[in-house]
Amino acid sequence: MNNNLIEVRDLVKHFEVSSGIFSRNKKVIKAVDGLDFDIKAGETLGLVGQSGCGKTTTARSLCLLDPKTSGTVKFLNPDTKKMESIDEIDDDGKKIFRRNMQMIFQDPYESLNPRWSIKDIIKEPLDIHNIGAINDREEAVVEILRTVGLTPPENYLSRYPHEISGGQRQRVSIARTLIMKPKFVICDEPTSMLDVSIRISIMDLMLNLAKDLDVSYLYITHDLAVARYMCNRIAVMFNGKIVEIANTEDLLQNPIHPYTKRLISSIPIPDPSYKRERYQINYDELDKIISKNPDKKMIDIGNEHFVATHDTKEYFIES
Ligand SMILES: Nc1ncnc2c1ncn2[C@@H]1O[C@H](COP(=O)(O)OP(=O)(O)OP(=O)(O)O)[C@@H](O)[C@H]1O
Ligand SMILES: [Mg+2]
Repeated sequence: MNNNLIEVRDLVKHFEVSSGIFSRNKKVIKAVDGLDFDIKAGETLGLVGQSGCGKTTTARSLCLLDPKTSGTVKFLNPDTKKMESIDEIDDDGKKIFRRNMQMIFQDPYESLNPRWSIKDIIKEPLDIHNIGAINDREEAVVEILRTVGLTPPENYLSRYPHEISGGQRQRVSIARTLIMKPKFVICDEPTSMLDVSIRISIMDLMLNLAKDLDVSYLYITHDLAVARYMCNRIAVMFNGKIVEIANTEDLLQNPIHPYTKRLISSIPIPDPSYKRERYQINYDELDKIISKNPDKKMIDIGNEHFVATHDTKEYFIES
C-alpha cells in the first residue's frame, strides 16, 4: 500500500491560440506538458516555478475546472477506498471527487460573491452538495468560522466580503473550502496578495488545519521560502514540465537540476552585506543528466529524489 491520495500520469494541457488578430494560423501553447506526480494522504506537495510555467493550468486541469488535453488522474475514493480514474468514474463518483477536491485561489475577493453575506458564502457548498440537515448547516458555518479564527462568529455571519479585510477574506475562502471536509485542497498562491504579517498567520492556520482535519494540499507558489515552510515535498516546474521533485530539505540542500539550482540561488538572504552569486546554468551538468538515462523522463537518484532527463536547454535564456 503506497498511501497515495492522488496519482497523476503524463498530464498534458495545451491551448490553441491564433498567432495574430488577422491570422488564421493556430499556435499551440504547451502550458502543461507531461506531468507525473503523486500526493500521499496527509502530505503537502509544493509546486514551484517562475510565472507562466504552468502551475495554475495544472491546478485547473486537476480539479476539472478546465478539461485536460490528455493524461490520467486517479484519486483515492474515500467511499470505496480504491484508486479511481476521474475519466472512468460515473456521475456519483464525480460528485464524490468534486466534494473531496477543493481549490483556494490567490485572490479571495474574486472568488467570493460580493453580493452574498459571509454566512451564505460559506453555507453554499453544503446546499449544493446537500450535505447535512438544512437546520444544522448554520451551526456548521458558525463552527467553521471558529475553526479558521474568525471569532466571535456572530460578528461575521451577516457581513459582506467588502466589509472585512484581505486576511479575513482569505479565512472565509478557507472556511468555505473546509466546510466540505475535503481530503485534498489545491492552494494557488493563497497568501501572495496578503500583507507579510498576515501571510504567516494564514500559513500557520493552513498547516494546523491540515493536521487536525487530515487534509492534503497541492501548494502552488513561486516563493521557495514559502514552499519550505509549508511543504513536505517540492516539485519544481519549468515550461510545463517538472524538472525535479524531492523531499523539501533534500531538494533545497542538494539540488541536482541546473534550473533548481538557479531558482534556489535567487532566494533573497536577509543580510545586506551578503553578496550571493547567481547560479549560471551549467550545460555540461545538464548534458550529463540527459545522457544518463535517455529512455526515462525522470531518474531517481535515491530517497525518491527525481531529476528530469528531458532536454530543456532550448528554453533557458541567459540574462
Ligand atoms: N486560457 C488560456 N489560453 C491560452 N493560454 C493560456 C491560458 N491559460 C494559461 N495560458 C498560458 O499557459 C502558460 C501557463 O500559464 P499559467 O497561468 O498556468 O502559469 P503560472 O505558472 O500559474 O504563472 P503565475 O505564477 O504567473 O500565476 C502561460 O504561457 C499562459 O500564457
Ligand atoms: Mg498562476
